[in-house]
Amino acid sequence: MTKRFDNRVAFITGGSRGIGKSIAENFAEDGAKIAIIDIDAEALQNVQSEFRDKGFDILALQANVVNSQEVEATMEQVIQEYGSLDILVNNAGIIRDNLLFKMNDNDWDQVIDVHLKGAFNTTRAAQKHMVHQKYGRIINISSTSALGNPGQANYSTVKAGLQGLTKTLARELGKFGITANSVAPGFIETDMTKSTADRMGIPFEDFLKAGASKIPVGRVGKPSDIANAVAFFADEQSSFVNGQVLYVAGGPTN
Ligand code: NAI
Repeated sequence: MTKRFDNRVAFITGGSRGIGKSIAENFAEDGAKIAIIDIDAEALQNVQSEFRDKGFDILALQANVVNSQEVEATMEQVIQEYGSLDILVNNAGIIRDNLLFKMNDNDWDQVIDVHLKGAFNTTRAAQKHMVHQKYGRIINISSTSALGNPGQANYSTVKAGLQGLTKTLARELGKFGITANSVAPGFIETDMTKSTADRMGIPFEDFLKAGASKIPVGRVGKPSDIANAVAFFADEQSSFVNGQVLYVAGGPTN
Protein backbone atom coordinates (compact mmCIF):
# COMPACT_ATOMS: atom_id res chain seq x y z
CA MET A 1 0.00 0.00 0.00
CA THR A 2 1.38 3.38 -0.93
CA LYS A 3 1.55 6.03 1.73
CA ARG A 4 1.23 9.82 1.57
CA PHE A 5 4.92 10.54 2.26
CA ASP A 6 6.58 7.47 0.73
CA ASN A 7 10.06 8.36 -0.62
CA ARG A 8 10.03 11.70 1.15
CA VAL A 9 12.66 12.84 3.63
CA ALA A 10 11.51 15.19 6.40
CA PHE A 11 13.94 17.19 8.54
CA ILE A 12 12.45 18.46 11.80
CA THR A 13 14.21 20.79 14.21
CA GLY A 14 13.54 20.39 17.93
CA GLY A 15 11.97 17.04 17.14
CA SER A 16 12.88 15.05 20.21
CA ARG A 17 9.77 15.94 22.19
CA GLY A 18 6.46 17.79 22.14
CA ILE A 19 5.12 19.16 18.89
CA GLY A 20 8.25 18.37 16.87
CA LYS A 21 8.20 14.72 17.93
CA SER A 22 4.55 14.40 16.96
CA ILE A 23 5.24 16.01 13.56
CA ALA A 24 8.08 13.53 12.99
CA GLU A 25 5.98 10.55 14.05
CA ASN A 26 3.11 11.58 11.82
CA PHE A 27 5.41 11.82 8.79
CA ALA A 28 7.03 8.48 9.59
CA GLU A 29 3.67 6.76 9.98
CA ASP A 30 2.83 8.04 6.54
CA GLY A 31 5.97 6.58 5.00
CA ALA A 32 8.57 9.37 5.25
CA LYS A 33 12.15 8.93 6.34
CA ILE A 34 12.70 11.36 9.19
CA ALA A 35 15.67 13.31 10.49
CA ILE A 36 15.47 15.08 13.80
CA ILE A 37 17.92 17.59 15.19
CA ASP A 38 17.87 18.81 18.75
CA ILE A 39 20.22 20.03 21.47
CA ASP A 40 18.95 17.48 23.99
CA ALA A 41 21.17 14.38 23.57
CA GLU A 42 19.24 12.17 25.98
CA ALA A 43 15.86 12.97 24.43
CA LEU A 44 17.36 12.26 20.99
CA GLN A 45 18.53 8.83 22.14
CA ASN A 46 15.09 8.06 23.53
CA VAL A 47 13.18 9.16 20.47
CA GLN A 48 15.57 7.28 18.20
CA SER A 49 15.08 3.98 20.01
CA GLU A 50 11.33 4.51 20.39
CA PHE A 51 10.89 5.25 16.68
CA ARG A 52 13.27 2.47 15.53
CA ASP A 53 11.21 0.05 17.62
CA LYS A 54 8.19 1.19 15.62
CA GLY A 55 10.07 0.41 12.42
CA PHE A 56 10.59 4.01 11.33
CA ASP A 57 13.61 5.25 9.38
CA ILE A 58 15.02 7.86 11.71
CA LEU A 59 18.24 9.81 12.08
CA ALA A 60 18.44 11.64 15.41
CA LEU A 61 21.34 14.09 15.39
CA GLN A 62 22.56 16.54 17.93
CA ALA A 63 22.84 20.08 16.59
CA ASN A 64 22.05 23.58 17.76
CA VAL A 65 19.95 25.42 15.18
CA VAL A 66 21.76 28.64 16.09
CA ASN A 67 25.06 27.19 14.86
CA SER A 68 25.09 27.30 11.05
CA GLN A 69 28.01 24.87 10.76
CA GLU A 70 26.28 22.25 12.88
CA VAL A 71 23.09 22.69 10.89
CA GLU A 72 24.88 22.36 7.56
CA ALA A 73 26.86 19.32 8.71
CA THR A 74 23.78 17.46 9.94
CA MET A 75 21.85 18.32 6.81
CA GLU A 76 24.70 16.99 4.65
CA GLN A 77 24.71 13.81 6.69
CA VAL A 78 20.99 13.37 6.17
CA ILE A 79 21.27 13.91 2.42
CA GLN A 80 24.22 11.50 2.21
CA GLU A 81 22.28 8.87 4.12
CA TYR A 82 18.80 9.30 2.66
CA GLY A 83 19.62 10.76 -0.77
CA SER A 84 17.39 13.85 -0.56
CA LEU A 85 15.67 16.37 1.64
CA ASP A 86 12.09 17.21 0.75
CA ILE A 87 10.40 18.66 3.83
CA LEU A 88 11.86 21.07 6.37
CA VAL A 89 9.97 21.91 9.54
CA ASN A 90 11.37 24.76 11.63
CA ASN A 91 9.95 23.82 15.00
CA ALA A 92 12.79 24.24 17.54
CA GLY A 93 11.88 26.88 20.06
CA ILE A 94 12.33 28.27 23.53
CA ILE A 95 10.51 30.75 25.70
CA ARG A 96 12.03 33.32 28.05
CA ASP A 97 8.86 35.10 29.14
CA ASN A 98 8.89 38.29 31.17
CA LEU A 99 7.21 41.65 31.15
CA LEU A 100 9.26 44.07 29.11
CA PHE A 101 10.59 46.01 32.09
CA LYS A 102 12.02 42.79 33.53
CA MET A 103 13.23 41.23 30.28
CA ASN A 104 17.02 41.13 30.15
CA ASP A 105 19.34 41.10 27.15
CA ASN A 106 19.80 37.32 27.31
CA ASP A 107 16.04 36.69 27.34
CA TRP A 108 15.77 38.74 24.19
CA ASP A 109 18.87 37.46 22.38
CA GLN A 110 18.31 33.76 23.04
CA VAL A 111 14.74 33.77 21.81
CA ILE A 112 15.62 35.80 18.71
CA ASP A 113 18.54 33.47 17.98
CA VAL A 114 16.82 30.11 18.37
CA HIS A 115 13.69 30.96 16.40
CA LEU A 116 14.95 33.40 13.78
CA LYS A 117 18.64 32.64 13.29
CA GLY A 118 17.73 28.97 13.65
CA ALA A 119 15.11 29.08 10.90
CA PHE A 120 17.44 31.13 8.70
CA ASN A 121 20.28 28.62 9.13
CA THR A 122 18.22 25.55 8.34
CA THR A 123 16.30 27.12 5.48
CA ARG A 124 19.39 28.50 3.77
CA ALA A 125 21.04 25.09 4.04
CA ALA A 126 17.94 23.20 2.83
CA GLN A 127 17.03 25.42 -0.11
CA LYS A 128 20.26 24.51 -1.96
CA HIS A 129 19.08 20.92 -2.22
CA MET A 130 15.44 21.76 -2.74
CA VAL A 131 16.20 24.19 -5.58
CA HIS A 132 18.48 21.61 -7.18
CA GLN A 133 15.81 18.91 -7.06
CA LYS A 134 13.04 21.41 -7.93
CA TYR A 135 10.90 20.29 -5.03
CA GLY A 136 10.49 21.26 -1.43
CA ARG A 137 8.11 21.96 1.40
CA ILE A 138 9.09 24.37 4.16
CA ILE A 139 6.88 24.74 7.21
CA ASN A 140 7.63 27.26 9.95
CA ILE A 141 6.01 26.89 13.35
CA SER A 142 4.72 30.29 14.40
CA SER A 143 2.23 30.93 17.22
CA THR A 144 -0.90 32.86 18.11
CA SER A 145 1.56 34.96 20.13
CA ALA A 146 2.54 36.54 16.79
CA LEU A 147 -0.60 38.62 17.28
CA GLY A 148 0.81 40.04 20.52
CA ASN A 149 0.94 38.60 24.03
CA PRO A 150 1.90 40.33 27.29
CA GLY A 151 5.10 38.89 28.76
CA GLN A 152 6.30 37.71 25.37
CA ALA A 153 7.85 40.74 23.66
CA ASN A 154 10.71 38.53 22.49
CA TYR A 155 8.61 35.49 21.53
CA SER A 156 5.79 37.39 19.79
CA THR A 157 8.42 39.25 17.77
CA VAL A 158 10.02 36.05 16.49
CA LYS A 159 6.72 34.32 15.81
CA ALA A 160 5.58 37.30 13.70
CA GLY A 161 9.04 37.32 12.11
CA LEU A 162 8.63 33.69 11.06
CA GLN A 163 5.45 34.64 9.25
CA GLY A 164 7.38 37.33 7.34
CA LEU A 165 10.11 34.81 6.54
CA THR A 166 7.47 32.35 5.31
CA LYS A 167 5.97 34.86 2.88
CA THR A 168 9.36 35.88 1.54
CA LEU A 169 10.40 32.26 1.02
CA ALA A 170 7.10 31.63 -0.75
CA ARG A 171 7.84 34.45 -3.18
CA GLU A 172 11.54 33.64 -3.69
CA LEU A 173 11.33 29.88 -4.00
CA GLY A 174 7.91 29.19 -5.56
CA LYS A 175 9.36 28.97 -9.06
CA PHE A 176 11.56 26.07 -7.97
CA GLY A 177 8.63 23.90 -6.88
CA ILE A 178 9.17 24.86 -3.27
CA THR A 179 6.34 26.09 -1.06
CA ALA A 180 6.67 27.76 2.33
CA ASN A 181 3.85 27.94 4.83
CA SER A 182 3.41 28.52 8.50
CA VAL A 183 1.36 26.80 11.18
CA ALA A 184 0.54 29.02 14.15
CA PRO A 185 -0.54 26.94 17.14
CA GLY A 186 -2.62 28.18 20.03
CA PHE A 187 -2.40 26.51 23.46
CA ILE A 188 -0.85 23.04 23.05
CA GLU A 189 -0.18 20.69 25.95
CA THR A 190 3.60 20.14 26.00
CA ASP A 191 6.63 20.56 28.26
CA MET A 192 6.79 24.15 27.07
CA THR A 193 3.34 25.03 28.41
CA LYS A 194 4.09 23.01 31.53
CA SER A 195 7.14 25.17 32.15
CA THR A 196 4.93 28.27 31.88
CA ALA A 197 2.53 26.84 34.48
CA ASP A 198 5.48 25.97 36.74
CA ARG A 199 6.90 29.47 36.40
CA MET A 200 3.53 30.97 37.32
CA GLY A 201 3.18 28.58 40.27
CA ILE A 202 -0.06 27.09 38.90
CA PRO A 203 -0.65 23.30 38.93
CA PHE A 204 -0.52 22.13 35.31
CA GLU A 205 -4.01 20.57 35.49
CA ASP A 206 -5.51 23.91 36.57
CA PHE A 207 -3.53 25.72 33.90
CA LEU A 208 -4.91 23.35 31.23
CA LYS A 209 -8.47 23.75 32.52
CA ALA A 210 -8.21 27.54 32.53
CA GLY A 211 -6.79 27.45 29.00
CA ALA A 212 -9.53 25.11 27.74
CA SER A 213 -12.27 27.34 29.16
CA LYS A 214 -11.23 30.13 26.78
CA ILE A 215 -11.07 27.95 23.67
CA PRO A 216 -14.23 27.54 21.54
CA VAL A 217 -13.79 23.77 21.06
CA GLY A 218 -13.51 23.40 24.84
CA ARG A 219 -10.09 21.79 25.04
CA VAL A 220 -6.45 22.66 24.70
CA GLY A 221 -4.54 21.38 21.69
CA LYS A 222 -2.46 18.21 21.39
CA PRO A 223 0.82 17.99 19.47
CA SER A 224 -0.97 15.78 16.92
CA ASP A 225 -3.34 18.68 16.11
CA ILE A 226 -0.31 20.58 14.85
CA ALA A 227 1.22 17.56 13.12
CA ASN A 228 -1.98 17.19 11.13
CA ALA A 229 -1.84 20.79 9.89
CA VAL A 230 1.86 20.47 9.05
CA ALA A 231 1.16 17.35 7.00
CA PHE A 232 -1.41 19.27 4.94
CA PHE A 233 1.19 21.86 3.92
CA ALA A 234 3.83 19.16 3.36
CA ASP A 235 1.63 17.15 1.01
CA GLU A 236 2.74 17.05 -2.61
CA GLN A 237 -0.83 17.91 -3.59
CA SER A 238 -0.67 21.22 -1.67
CA SER A 239 1.57 22.74 -4.36
CA PHE A 240 -0.78 25.72 -4.91
CA VAL A 241 -0.90 26.56 -1.18
CA ASN A 242 2.04 28.90 -0.66
CA GLY A 243 2.91 31.67 1.78
CA GLN A 244 -0.02 30.97 4.08
CA VAL A 245 -0.37 31.10 7.83
CA LEU A 246 -2.78 28.60 9.36
CA TYR A 247 -3.83 29.30 12.95
CA VAL A 248 -4.56 26.04 14.73
CA ALA A 249 -6.05 27.17 17.99
CA GLY A 250 -9.48 25.61 18.46
CA GLY A 251 -11.17 28.80 17.36
CA PRO A 252 -10.73 32.05 15.48
CA THR A 253 -7.91 34.29 16.60
CA ASN A 254 -9.66 37.64 16.35
P1 NAI B 1 9.18 21.92 23.70
O1 NAI B 1 9.94 22.83 24.60
O2 NAI B 1 8.45 20.77 24.26
O3 NAI B 1 10.14 21.39 22.53
C1 NAI B 1 11.04 22.22 21.88
C2 NAI B 1 12.20 21.39 21.40
O4 NAI B 1 13.14 22.28 20.74
C3 NAI B 1 12.97 20.69 22.53
O5 NAI B 1 13.19 19.35 22.20
C4 NAI B 1 14.26 21.47 22.62
O6 NAI B 1 15.36 20.71 23.09
C5 NAI B 1 14.45 21.91 21.16
N1 NAI B 1 15.36 23.04 21.04
C6 NAI B 1 15.38 24.17 21.79
N2 NAI B 1 16.39 24.97 21.43
C7 NAI B 1 17.02 24.34 20.40
C8 NAI B 1 18.15 24.66 19.60
N3 NAI B 1 18.85 25.79 19.81
N4 NAI B 1 18.53 23.80 18.63
C9 NAI B 1 17.85 22.64 18.44
N5 NAI B 1 16.78 22.28 19.18
C10 NAI B 1 16.37 23.11 20.15
O7 NAI B 1 8.18 22.90 22.90
P2 NAI B 1 6.84 22.62 22.07
O8 NAI B 1 5.71 23.07 22.90
O9 NAI B 1 6.84 21.27 21.50
O10 NAI B 1 7.02 23.72 20.91
C11 NAI B 1 7.48 23.41 19.61
C12 NAI B 1 7.32 24.67 18.75
O11 NAI B 1 5.95 25.08 18.75
C13 NAI B 1 8.12 25.87 19.26
O12 NAI B 1 8.61 26.61 18.17
C14 NAI B 1 7.08 26.67 20.00
O13 NAI B 1 7.44 28.02 20.07
C15 NAI B 1 5.85 26.43 19.14
N6 NAI B 1 4.58 26.67 19.81
C16 NAI B 1 4.21 25.95 20.93
C17 NAI B 1 2.99 26.20 21.53
C18 NAI B 1 2.53 25.46 22.74
O14 NAI B 1 1.46 25.82 23.26
N7 NAI B 1 3.22 24.46 23.21
C19 NAI B 1 2.08 27.24 21.00
C20 NAI B 1 2.56 27.91 19.84
C21 NAI B 1 3.77 27.62 19.27
